[in-house]
Amino acid sequence: MSACACEGPSFSPCDSPARRQWLMATVGAGGALAVTALIPFVSSLTPSERAKAAGAPVEVDIGKLAPGEMMVVEWRGKPVWILNRTPEMLQALKKAEPMLADPASEKPQQPAYATNETRSRRPELLVAVGICTHLGCSPSQAFTAADPKLGADWPGGFLCPCHGSTFDFAGRVFKNKPAPTNLEIPPHQFLSDARLLIGSDEQTKT
Ligand code: FES
Repeated sequence: MSACACEGPSFSPCDSPARRQWLMATVGAGGALAVTALIPFVSSLTPSERAKAAGAPVEVDIGKLAPGEMMVVEWRGKPVWILNRTPEMLQALKKAEPMLADPASEKPQQPAYATNETRSRRPELLVAVGICTHLGCSPSQAFTAADPKLGADWPGGFLCPCHGSTFDFAGRVFKNKPAPTNLEIPPHQFLSDARLLIGSDEQTKT
């Protein structure tokens, strides 16, 4: 049985080539958003070097990511969202709290430095693995508050179309949804104001 039970016309099986195409298309849509993977030319590597490179960190230029914009990069075959949250999105985190299953991020889905109310190192910048913790679909943006499909009290966030799990702008799952935990926050660090390294932090040896 597949690890992912995503079905239906509006989304792709989780680890399919189609999903990878979607990822790359999403990154490409950013135009000026340069993404530099710290992975050497793969065909020149030995098998053990290739395995190591597959887990290598990814360096991302976030200098042109405007408030409200999100980019997606691939790390270890997974989509990683980088969302530059607006002040309104940060306010929506507070509004969402009473409706969340784990508002204080008590389950270990993030490094210690992201165990805070924004689940981030910089308040405005969300860095999260965009894979639903239910069965691995990729949630979509549902940024508009009070979206008619999600109800008048919807504060904005993400919707997993597979079985209806919803997440706020910090990737925290709402109560009574199939997803058991908040989205994963990967290890990451800032190399400068505009350079983000995903997959490595001060504690991680890569
Ligand atoms: S995969 Fe089932 S709700 Fe997301």
